[in-house]
Amino acid sequence: MTVSPERPLLPVVDTGDRPSPCSTGRAALTCRYRCGDACAHDAPNTSTNETFADVLAAATSRRTLLRTGAVIGAAAATTVAVGGPAAATKGRPGGGSHHPQRPGSAPHGLRFEAVPPNTTDAVTIPSGYRQDVVIRWGDPLFKDSPRFDVNRQTGASQRRQFGYNNDFVGLLPLGRDTHLLVVNHEYTDEQIMFPKYVKASPTRDQVEAALAAHGLSVVAVREQRRSGALEPIVGHPLNRRLHGSTEFRLSGPVAGHELVRTKADPQGRTALGTFNNCSGGLTPWGTWLTAEENINQYFANAATRTDPVEAKRLKRYGVAGTTSERQWEKYEDRFDLAKEPNEVNRFGWIVEVDPYDPTSTPRKRTALGRFKHEAAQPRITRDGRVAVYMGDDERFDYFYKFVSHGKVKRGRSLRARRHNADLLDHGTLYVAKFTGDSPGEIDGSGKLPADGRFDGGGEWIPLVSGDRSHVPGFSAAEVLLFTRLAADTVGATKMDRPEDVEPSPRSGKVYVALTNNSNRGAAGQAPADEANPRNANKNGHVLELTEARNDSAATSFAWNLLLVCGDPDDPSTYFGGYPKKDVSPISCPDNVAFDPHGNLWISTDGNALGSHDGLFGVSVEGRSRGLTKQFLTVPTGAETCGPVIQRDRVLVAVQHPGEKDGATVEQPASQWPDGPGTVPRPAVVAVWRADGRDIGV
Ligand code: FEO
Ligand code: CA
Ligand code: CA
Ligand code: CA
Repeated sequence: MTVSPERPLLPVVDTGDRPSPCSTGRAALTCRYRCGDACAHDAPNTSTNETFADVLAAATSRRTLLRTGAVIGAAAATTVAVGGPAAATKGRPGGGSHHPQRPGSAPHGLRFEAVPPNTTDAVTIPSGYRQDVVIRWGDPLFKDSPRFDVNRQTGASQRRQFGYNNDFVGLLPLGRDTHLLVVNHEYTDEQIMFPKYVKASPTRDQVEAALAAHGLSVVAVREQRRSGALEPIVGHPLNRRLHGSTEFRLSGPVAGHELVRTKADPQGRTALGTFNNCSGGLTPWGTWLTAEENINQYFANAATRTDPVEAKRLKRYGVAGTTSERQWEKYEDRFDLAKEPNEVNRFGWIVEVDPYDPTSTPRKRTALGRFKHEAAQPRITRDGRVAVYMGDDERFDYFYKFVSHGKVKRGRSLRARRHNADLLDHGTLYVAKFTGDSPGEIDGSGKLPADGRFDGGGEWIPLVSGDRSHVPGFSAAEVLLFTRLAADTVGATKMDRPEDVEPSPRSGKVYVALTNNSNRGAAGQAPADEANPRNANKNGHVLELTEARNDSAATSFAWNLLLVCGDPDDPSTYFGGYPKKDVSPISCPDNVAFDPHGNLWISTDGNALGSHDGLFGVSVEGRSRGLTKQFLTVPTGAETCGPVIQRDRVLVAVQHPGEKDGATVEQPASQWPDGPGTVPRPAVVAVWRADGRDIGV
């Protein structure tokens, strides 16, 4: 298959057969393949927990943008769009004016010329910076890996190649000039992966290739001389593909439970595959945590499960309907709930992988609960244990924390590694309740209360400690298997899609990205509250949480909103108190990471302002707190994932380039990264400074 260079790209305007159910500018194709059209369905959380909790509590206790008209010229003058066949930079989506900020006045790490919002089919980076693709979908990992051929995709070929839709990116130390790159492959876009794809009747090769394109990759990379580029080391002994048929061990309290036993695994201890791995985290002991998110969409025939208790559980997890989108059930019984009702219970976990041991079996850590896990980010407690922060990415779902019983043994010795190997099997799982300090002043408009901040306190409500349930009516195993339902009963706060989370390595404050929630305040839905202060929240916000005594083992915390996202001209936005005329517009915060200077970096998923997704640096401390600057934008249809912010290199995962409604292999919507005549391929990209100096200084 070759894509004719003469063939025109799809217009950037969606041409889908039906509108996207999202309010954020997402293509319907994204909704269908990534999250099973979650926004088209009612939010699964119909609980009235807030009311219940209130009763219980009473009883017990800016922007760096172009002035309209100067957009195209200034963008061309100040930014570099390479790595793909850049279409002309399209306008200045989002409206408003531009007040170029002197780069020298920003804090260290953020001294670059902000990239303006744009719709260019390229990775657009600041002037003076360079970029290169590190690895792309279908690239070889092993000496025997077949060359990528869009017309000859099979499970066997994909199992030896880099997977699709890279999301989380981690970089672990290896040798003097080498690193271990670990990457999630969240989901597959069949219509833009397979030539002549017929949605109603996927072939066996297509299903097997899709199963194999999901999962994880571990690949050793080597630094290139006099640049920030990274080159994969094909055939390195630590390279590994974990995919839809790899063995994963269930561990922790739910391992062996009757609700995780299947015909193929009567012991309930070995699950095949990991799916929809979104973001993740790296542990202090050198392992990788990866989060199984929208797992509901892979399972068919939920409609056959009529037992009321089982049906209620499936519904709360969004498992519904008859035929699944990808129809894996046509070729593997385990995806058919009529035949294997418990298989779905073996997904929705945090998975721990030891990337330094290619023979190790990864563990699904059941002690951390089962939900639509977005990420898992550890922080050491004052007494040396480990806390893991986790968001459940669904409208009106919750924010969680796990605290281990055992202490972390420092260092990378064999003894330490053995000691830490099962730390995440024993501990207490909590869910967060947020209380505002300006009651009666939250009207859903985003107007700041009289104290000038959306802020307040909160508590961590214990759900389960090992074999001991803290939730009346739920066994410990039931709390872990059906965590959402357990959390519904204890007064957890319904949030606007909790996504990635990142504790600041400097201050210990924990930052939570809340992507959006167009249903906030709708009829019959939870109203705005101080932690989720806007009705029909299209642009999301970022919450800053400070644990009591700055100890991640604490059961109470203070919080405030760092950012209320959107176009700075929109009066409902807030940028940490920083002058709004000097910030970049930002919409739908998703992944978060810190740079070595203590700045928070945010990648976005969906943009309700009309620009392509981007990566932003945000100052969180001092006089520049709230200063928000866009560092890059991604190609047509893509989402910015990763990211990793090193002193002299930025890594992002460009996920689902070309994912526009109506796009196919024959009629692609993007030519990134390889130009005319090629299919768009998700890829990890490295960005560095042409003069070799550090990023943003
Ligand atoms: Fe996979 Fe919540 O984004
Ligand atoms: Ca307040
Ligand atoms: Ca995400
Ligand atoms: Ca992160």
